[in-house]
Amino acid sequence: MEVKTLGVVGAGQMGSGIVQVAANVGGLNVIMNDIADEFVNKGYDAISKNLDKLVSRQRLAADDKDATLNRIKKSTDINDMQDADFVVEAATEKENIKLDIFRNLDSICKPGVVLASNTSSISITKIGAVTGRPENVIGMHFMNPVPVMKLVEVVPGLVTSQEVTDLTESLAKQFGKTPAMCKDSPGFTLNRILVPMINEAIYTLYEGVATVEDIDNVMKLGANHPMGPLALADLVGLDTCFAIMEILYRELGDPKYRPCPLLRKYVDAGFLGVKAGKGFYDYSKNK
Ligand code: CAA
Repeated sequence: MEVKTLGVVGAGQMGSGIVQVAANVGGLNVIMNDIADEFVNKGYDAISKNLDKLVSRQRLAADDKDATLNRIKKSTDINDMQDADFVVEAATEKENIKLDIFRNLDSICKPGVVLASNTSSISITKIGAVTGRPENVIGMHFMNPVPVMKLVEVVPGLVTSQEVTDLTESLAKQFGKTPAMCKDSPGFTLNRILVPMINEAIYTLYEGVATVEDIDNVMKLGANHPMGPLALADLVGLDTCFAIMEILYRELGDPKYRPCPLLRKYVDAGFLGVKAGKGFYDYSKNK
C-alpha cells in the first residue's frame, strides 16, 4: 500500500517529532491529531521553531519550511483519521488510553490501513487484539528527541504480517531513520537496557551514594554518554520511566526491575522532568 497521508495521534513531545520528520524528511501529508487545540498548537509551534532553527543553520530552505508546514493538517477530531493511509499513535503511555484509541482507530480507518504504536513498553500483540485487524498492528518506536535520534524500533506482534513489517521498515527509512527489528517483549530492546540503567542511577541518588550532578558527570565523563542518566530521565519523562519499570517488573517478574521509591515519589509529586518544568533538575524560567 502506498502511504501518502500519515495520521499521527498525539501531538506531544514524541507525536510532534514524528509529524516533523514525516512531513519534512519523509515528504508526506500528515494529519496531526490530539484531544484539544492547545495540545495540537503547542506541538505545531514546536515543529515550526525546530524548522526555523534548521533554516537559520542553512540546513533547510525557507520555502521548504513553508512547504513542510503546509503538509501538516491540524486536527482535534479522531474521525479525521479516515483520510490516513498509515497511522502512528503516540499518545500518553497509559495502557487503557492506548487500547481505547486503537479500538477507535480500527472503526474509523480504511480497511488495510496500518495502525502503528509508538509505545515504549506495552505489548503490541495486546494492542492488536483489541482491533479487528491485528495483522495490521505494529510497534514503530521512535526515540526522543525524534528529529535528532536515528533509531526506530520496529516491533511486529504475534500475528503482524510480513508485508506490514516491511512497509513500516521502509517508512522509517523514508523518515531518515535506521530501523531495528525487535520481538514483542517487555521494553523491547532499548528500554529493557536503558531504563533499568536510569532506575539504578535513581537508586544511587536515593541511597546517598552521589549527588545528581556527580551521577550525571560520572556517566558523561566516565562512560562517554551524551547526557547523564538523570538528565535523560528528565528528557524522557519520569512518568514514562516509571511506567516502563512497572511493566518490566510486572511482565518479567524479576525483582531487579523494581522501580526506585524515589522515582515513584517524584512522579506522585508531579516532578515529571523537562515537560513539567521540574524533575531531577529545575527547568522553570525563574530557576
Ligand atoms: N528537537 C530537535 N532538535 C534538537 C532537540 C529537540 N528536542 N534537542 C536537540 N536538538 C538538536 C540541536 O538543535 C542540535 O542541532 P545542531 O547540531 O544543528 O546544532 C543538536 O540536536 C545537538 O543539540 P545540543 O547542541 O543542544 O545539545 P547536545 O549536543 O547535548 O545534544 C541531545 C542533545 C541530542 C539530546 C544529546 O544530549 C543526546 O543524544 N542525548 C541522549 C538522548 C537519548 O538517549 N535519547 C533516547 C531516549 S530513550 C527514548 O526516547 C525511548 C523511550 O521509549 C523512553
